[in-house]
Amino acid sequence: MRLILLGPPGAGKGTQAVVLSEELKIPHISTGDIFRANIKEGTPLGILAKSYIDSGKLVPDDVTVDIVGSRLNDEDCRNGFIMDGFPRTIPQAQLFDKMLKECHTSVDAVINITADDSVIVRRLSGRRMCQCGRTYHVENNPPKIEGICDVCGSKLYIRDDDKEETIKERLRTYREQTSPLVDYYMKKGLLLNFDGTKPIEVTTREILDSLKK
Ligand code: AP5
Ligand code: MG
Ligand code: ZN
Repeated sequence: MRLILLGPPGAGKGTQAVVLSEELKIPHISTGDIFRANIKEGTPLGILAKSYIDSGKLVPDDVTVDIVGSRLNDEDCRNGFIMDGFPRTIPQAQLFDKMLKECHTSVDAVINITADDSVIVRRLSGRRMCQCGRTYHVENNPPKIEGICDVCGSKLYIRDDDKEETIKERLRTYREQTSPLVDYYMKKGLLLNFDGTKPIEVTTREILDSLKK
């Protein structure tokens, strides 16, 4: 299955993607995670991406599309994928459609997860991340041992862009550049809508049920 997860920052894309990836046995591809791994390693891509990410802006389309294109060539993507945080602009979506068409495939569904700005700000301010891709929240979804990942035992960290000013800028960027994709995929008949403010497991169940239909 070829899936896209769409939604504002903090809606729960990454949280759902990890579970869906395990359930559906398809890889979770997060452009945000790829950028953060490159920032950590200090690669040229990381240095470029950091300036955009820290100011709540999007990394340029050509750079982002190239990264996704090369990731899709990996063996594990043959039977599908879950794109988390890509595409994020109309040009990215158009280039992605073209890329898939050249491989004689297409997107099966777009999972649109929504949440209000006030919920988002609270969530991102309490978020804790693990390098393995898992996401926690100090109140809503705490790890068993404070500051440590339940699954891999690594130390959790706070994202540099989870500061209140940057969160506001990310929301603005979402509204201006990413929200038009809701209409884009609705017109293609691919959009499935979910309320991201329900408990995590409830949303997961609703997504899996609607994919079966
Ligand atoms: P990215 O890493 O994709 O960040 P984002 O879009 O801002 O989304 P988040 O990861 O913040 O939110 P999420 O929806 O994954 O929520 P999560 O599950 O963590 O991108 C970062 C940056 O990279 C961008 O700003 C941009 O600069 C760049 N970038 C990435 N992709 C790009 C692209 N395609 N083009 C250009 N630039 C790109 O959940 C949030 C919190 O809420 C967690 O603490 C979680 O535990 C909690 N939570 C989740 N669900 C629930 C629930 N149901 N109930 C209660 N709490 C919950
Ligand atoms: Mg995420
Ligand atoms: Zn971990």
